[in-house]
Amino acid sequence: MKAPITVSVTGAAGQIGYALLTRIASGSMFGPDQPVNLRLIEIEPAMGALEGTVMELKDCAFPLLNEIVPTCDLAEGFSGTDWALLVGSVPRKAGMERNDLLGINGKIFTGQGQAIAANAGSGVRTLVVGNPCNTNCLIAMSNAAGIPKEQFFAMTRLDENRAKSQLAAKAGVHSSDVTNLCIWGNHSATQYPDFTNAKIKGQLVTDVITDREWLEGEFIATVQQRGAAIIKARGASSAASAANGVVDTVRSLVTPTPDGDWTSVAVCSDGSYGIPEGLTASMPIRTDGSTWEVVQGVELDEFSRAKIEASVAELVSERAAVADLIPA
Ligand code: NAD
Ligand code: LMR
Repeated sequence: MKAPITVSVTGAAGQIGYALLTRIASGSMFGPDQPVNLRLIEIEPAMGALEGTVMELKDCAFPLLNEIVPTCDLAEGFSGTDWALLVGSVPRKAGMERNDLLGINGKIFTGQGQAIAANAGSGVRTLVVGNPCNTNCLIAMSNAAGIPKEQFFAMTRLDENRAKSQLAAKAGVHSSDVTNLCIWGNHSATQYPDFTNAKIKGQLVTDVITDREWLEGEFIATVQQRGAAIIKARGASSAASAANGVVDTVRSLVTPTPDGDWTSVAVCSDGSYGIPEGLTASMPIRTDGSTWEVVQGVELDEFSRAKIEASVAELVSERAAVADLIPA
């Protein structure tokens, strides 16, 4: 049996936490022969609810679940962890944009970044889900002295999955037939789901779906507004699909990327594609299962460049808004 992987999840008693923990414990994230330890982090008022979640996890008797540590102490929660999944934070309500949450949620990620640096090993990888996730990731990364920037990620995989599903429905194929779909920029209403490089069964999407007006209009708007549409319909933000996005993101980062394809995740920009260095922006990445790289040479037409620039401009303004949370 392999040695267990330790996974810390903040906001473990919340909606995403509820949908995510069973997926991790059952082997969806790291595979059917990989035991896991769970460190479940909550704020003090939610510790009672977390106890209920822990009871349910125990009642599943998952063969791969080795240990569960529920805690409201960040040092204990991140101690020796391999993966820090930062979900805990307030979700938006109808009528809000995700960056309206910066003032409420941003400060959570200073202490968590510091606690990760102080208590996890230097190899720890962190995925930020709590919104606005790109800029919260930037805050956590900037406060985690000594942890390499390449080990911080923010989630745009849910957007990628949404975009693939929309394209597949329009083309009358299965979503798994859609590849090379990159979400560029911010996990926000400015994100750009790049249909110009995406493929369906190896053919360019633009050759399969010839309705350019739909691609440039309804398709992009549907993906950009999907989170808001779910909030309007459910009265609560996406949870099962978000948890699935977390599982897919981590699995894609620990598994070699299929030849010729890429995946979307927000990473610390190295200046590729003119995205200012240091911003946490979504772009196409490939991995061998341990190290990752930004896929170079993706052709961007004028339409795509303008969309990416708009989303990057929003990230620049979000960074300016939280300058006091980012150590010089
Ligand atoms: P929720 O309100 O159901 O749960 C959030 C949990 O976080 C609560 O249990 C709360 O007690 C806990 N929490 C709050 N502050 C905390 C802190 N400082 N430390 C630890 N735990 C803390 O919300 P949810 O539906 O699970 O959503 C969580 C976050 O994920 C929201 O910010 C939401 O907008 C975001 N989200 C992101 C994506 C994405 O694609 N990036 C998708 C869906 C939701
Ligand atoms: C989503 O995309 O579903 C989440 O970011 C929640 C939201 O606020 O839209």
